[in-house]
Amino acid sequence: MAIIWNQNDRTLTLQTDGSTYQMKIDNHNVLLHTYYGKRTELFDYSYLIDHRDRGFAGNPYDAERDKTYTLDTLPQEYPCFGSGDFRNSALKLRYGSGASALELRYLKHEILPGKYRIPGLPSMFADEDEANTLIVTMKGDAAELLVHLYYGVIPGADIITRAVVLENCSSEAIYLEKAMSVSLDFQYGSYDLVTFYGRHCMERNVCREKLRHGIQSVGSTRGASSHQQNPFVILAEPGTSEERGGCYGLSFLYSGDFKSEAEWDQINQTRIVMGIHPANFRWKLEPGEQFHTPEAALSYSGEGFRKLSWNYHDAIRNHLCRGPYRDKRAPILINNWEGTYFDFTGEKLFEMAKEAAELGIEMFVLDDGWFGVRNSETGGLGDWYANEKKLGCTIGELAARIHGLGMKFGLWFEPECVSEDSDLYRAHPDWAFTVPGRKPMRGRYQLVLDFGRDEVREHIFRQMCAVLDQSKADYIKWDFNRSVSDVYSASLTADRQGEATHRYVLGLYDLLERLLARYPDLLIEGCCGGGGRFDAGMLHYAPQIWCSDNTDAINRMSIQYGTSFCYPVSTMGAHVSACPNHQTGRVVPFATRGAVAMAGTFGYELDITKMTAEEKEEVREQVARFKKYCDVIRNGRYYRLTAPGEKSFHAWEMAKADGSEALVTVVSTMLEGNPLGCYLKLCGLIPEKIYEVAGRRYPGAALMNCGVILPTAQYEYQSWQFHIQAVD
Ligand code: GLA
Repeated sequence: MAIIWNQNDRTLTLQTDGSTYQMKIDNHNVLLHTYYGKRTELFDYSYLIDHRDRGFAGNPYDAERDKTYTLDTLPQEYPCFGSGDFRNSALKLRYGSGASALELRYLKHEILPGKYRIPGLPSMFADEDEANTLIVTMKGDAAELLVHLYYGVIPGADIITRAVVLENCSSEAIYLEKAMSVSLDFQYGSYDLVTFYGRHCMERNVCREKLRHGIQSVGSTRGASSHQQNPFVILAEPGTSEERGGCYGLSFLYSGDFKSEAEWDQINQTRIVMGIHPANFRWKLEPGEQFHTPEAALSYSGEGFRKLSWNYHDAIRNHLCRGPYRDKRAPILINNWEGTYFDFTGEKLFEMAKEAAELGIEMFVLDDGWFGVRNSETGGLGDWYANEKKLGCTIGELAARIHGLGMKFGLWFEPECVSEDSDLYRAHPDWAFTVPGRKPMRGRYQLVLDFGRDEVREHIFRQMCAVLDQSKADYIKWDFNRSVSDVYSASLTADRQGEATHRYVLGLYDLLERLLARYPDLLIEGCCGGGGRFDAGMLHYAPQIWCSDNTDAINRMSIQYGTSFCYPVSTMGAHVSACPNHQTGRVVPFATRGAVAMAGTFGYELDITKMTAEEKEEVREQVARFKKYCDVIRNGRYYRLTAPGEKSFHAWEMAKADGSEALVTVVSTMLEGNPLGCYLKLCGLIPEKIYEVAGRRYPGAALMNCGVILPTAQYEYQSWQFHIQAVD
């Protein structure tokens, strides 16, 4: 049993293979958080709590004259606003009276087999015997409110998930103004906060900052999880490295507005909360209603960032992604976007597909511009029927020709957006978010549909089904190319407008779920101007996500590096594109572009008909290589051997967990006269075993302890892939 209730000391202890998490119900029925960290024997960790009169720290009424008992310093599981804990809170309500002070006290708990699920929201799943669920029910003091704290414990994955259900048992409406999914308190020490910031075409750069006194926060109010900050953060002990040190990950399974706030308080305690961003959130909870927060997945590693990443990689692959491509390699694809942009005919597409098929590429993806009247960014979104004039045939005919090549066929959609120049917008202008009386902000010339409305989703669903039925498409690229603003839903009353952005995300998930239910074999690739919605929520529906609109292999190395802290290689959409690169103008050798894209789902995005015979041979060779090594690439453990910019080369490795095989990729990033020798230590091998590398044999111990000397680069961005095979 992964969840242990000790009636004597009233502790609830959650055990995973590598971590222990504990809470305790104290004499006042406050639910304390007593420990999270390395796995330990069962013990009551409340002895660590430092009870003192801190001054200006109020005392709950039932503490009577005890000035040392204060919510302002006690570590708690789910702190509330307004009743004496002046740190950041996880929950803030407003009752009908206008008041908002709230204290929660323990009422009961329940331990269940299996892992809970959340209706309408993504959540991790597990077999009955792989996980346990704990539900702790807390009762509000100022109103008849029940707060059910959900914990999902997946011991083998070293994952503890959290979510909250708020239930209004009173006779009047309660407004939720902040309802975070998780709060974690640490009683002492100092931590670094690691976050992943970026911008369109330059996502998920790693930022590591020591927490200072006060609150440091990251988040998004863009309606999507965003290019700018990722809903994954790490709290790390100072000095934590790839291989050493304690660190805690918080991954939010949500694709909309989010916030994560880390606070280092007056007595050097740390609190971190994560959940829906409160800025654009106000949920009216009517009597008898429940509100479900999204889920957050926590993991602890006592062995540095690498192990933390593996915990998430495995959990995402085994407990979050679904569908046929959860366990098998996705088809190697060619996408026409950077090859043709909007300028194509059906014949041209077929020619591209034909040449790609001959080289072993397995799927043709028709990107933007095949529908409505869409020859530029300015029109057509919302009209999801083929532009037969442009294609010269129906979408069914084109798809049949491509399927006839033995290839799979995929289509681009941007279901959530609408162009003003579209039949859909002309018929239903009120379906787009627009604040009455003001002209909305346009983003890439387009508006955002109010996906919280059933009739809007139903219309898009029907259109998509008609195209999917006709084309028998195997894949869709689900894009979303702007930030959400001017949020106002014509279907909600004034007191419910604060629900519109969350209802939008629920609508998005609903439509994705309906499509997957109807087309269980469909592969969805998420996209949001590249990696603007690369989050664990989306991965529940789309097991791969286009990592960035930046296909420059050198920039991609750092984007994929940052992405790898939480997300596995199997989720990272990565393509070889033409040079000079369309985003940066850089020229990178074809082999290096291939090697970098192989650290992802692997595919091509260029006009293959314009390539020389020699280049096509390279494609054939790369495709064959990716197929040959896909097992170690996809299922191997991922090692970040260097950080971008740290050395004159960048390197990463995938190694089978049993140490039998590895693939190391090295890209030279700096040329120098009279170059110094470059040495690289490998990882994940068995010291006693003998390995063959490029025709030579080495003991695993030599490769790991002393490393290899890298060849000297002869030209800019030269790369090498070394396959390492145990032979003895
Ligand atoms: C976004 C995507 C691109 C491409 C274009 C099409 O920018 O990220 O890959 O699909 O839209 O308009």
